[in-house]
Amino acid sequence: MLPTRGHFNPHVLHPLPHKWSVSSLRPPASIGTPLILRISNTDPGTLVVLAVLSLLPFLVSRLLTACLSKSKPVKQDLPQEPLLYPADKDAAALSRNNKRRLASYPKGFPEGWYPLCFSDDLRKGDIKYIECVGHELAVYRDESGVAKTVDAHCPHLGANLAFGGTVIGDCIQCPFHLWQFDGVDGACRSIPYCSPVPSVAKTRHWQTVDYYGLVCMFYSPRDEVRVSPPYQLMRIPAIDSGEQVYRGRWEVPVKMHLQEFAENSVDFQHFQPLHGGMTIPFTDIPISFITIRHVADWAEDPDHRHIVRFLDHATLMFRGREIPHSSAKATITFQGPGGVVIFDFVTEVGKIVLVQSHAPLDSVNMQVRFTWFADRAIPRLLVSYVVGNWFAQWKRDVMVWENKIYLRKPLLVKGDGPVMKLRRWFAQFYAEETPSGDW
Ligand code: FES
Ligand SMILES: [Fe+2]
Repeated sequence: MLPTRGHFNPHVLHPLPHKWSVSSLRPPASIGTPLILRISNTDPGTLVVLAVLSLLPFLVSRLLTACLSKSKPVKQDLPQEPLLYPADKDAAALSRNNKRRLASYPKGFPEGWYPLCFSDDLRKGDIKYIECVGHELAVYRDESGVAKTVDAHCPHLGANLAFGGTVIGDCIQCPFHLWQFDGVDGACRSIPYCSPVPSVAKTRHWQTVDYYGLVCMFYSPRDEVRVSPPYQLMRIPAIDSGEQVYRGRWEVPVKMHLQEFAENSVDFQHFQPLHGGMTIPFTDIPISFITIRHVADWAEDPDHRHIVRFLDHATLMFRGREIPHSSAKATITFQGPGGVVIFDFVTEVGKIVLVQSHAPLDSVNMQVRFTWFADRAIPRLLVSYVVGNWFAQWKRDVMVWENKIYLRKPLLVKGDGPVMKLRRWFAQFYAEETPSGDW
């Protein structure tokens, strides 16, 4: 049997015996997770063997390369560094390119939940200085373990709370004159030389939660929305109950705009050119004799305006012929503009959940963080295989995203996906800029 069942990419996943429909893609109440993948008709042992077999070409090629040609690097089709900023290019030209890209995108950051750091990296008493959505922030974990976020600069005389500041009880204390602020509401609780504390003594605070290994903050430029987010991030019962356990994390900077990630999923005609081929997990090394056929769709959640699901039905092909039982279906659910996106894989051997998150630093720079979880019964090798396939396919999109511009009037033709419909849905998150009427 060919190594097809564990393969994973954003648009490709595995067999569902029944006919696919939008309604069938809603997460089961017992799962509560938005992306569903099924690998059926395959026992656990076979899946592990498939995973190992699929890695063999990679291992053999690395071994041969090391033995026969130490000076010859392993073939790499994808750039190891972002194409926009290669070291040997003229800086002025790159700056022009960057400015042009910046100018092409909608202004302002979409309202939504964004990750600030991994939860593990923020222990009790820790303070971190973080730039996100154009703001300088001080995120800290108070002595009871609650993550909180305030503006980095103290409203008194402007000191940066993250440099020399201290966590005391529920508060973060400024190093300059020792004012103490509670990130739960931004209020100043103590001024060493002024009592009572005047009511005007407060700083801007941001709603913050720990979310499956990520510290996430709700961003809005509107004060009333910032302090009272219109929705919370959805829970994943299988993880909350302990049925699924943490299996890994990864982060990487990417020079792209957040909206590209959402648009990518309705750009159905890019699937074949970019994702039509299989690669060895974690690499861009192609498995040349296997290709992937995609059929994609999307749907807005009828009950939640901020949720949209992307659907894909993929089939593995061997020399142009469909591989039996290799078709696959996936649903990817966005929570808001895509600061936090969840993938939930349901297989014969259990579930794998991948949380992909995007933290925009500016319009074309963001930090992408992933955490993933799986049933204890799923072999770690299989989990790595699935996640590694996703990363390999995702990197192919990154190659395009890091160099493209945003066209407000793209030249769309019959057969293109519903890009403009997606843009109209996405526009609800731009509080600072109403996209021009040419949408
Ligand atoms: S600048 Fe922060 S207490 Fe004075
Ligand atoms: Fe893609």
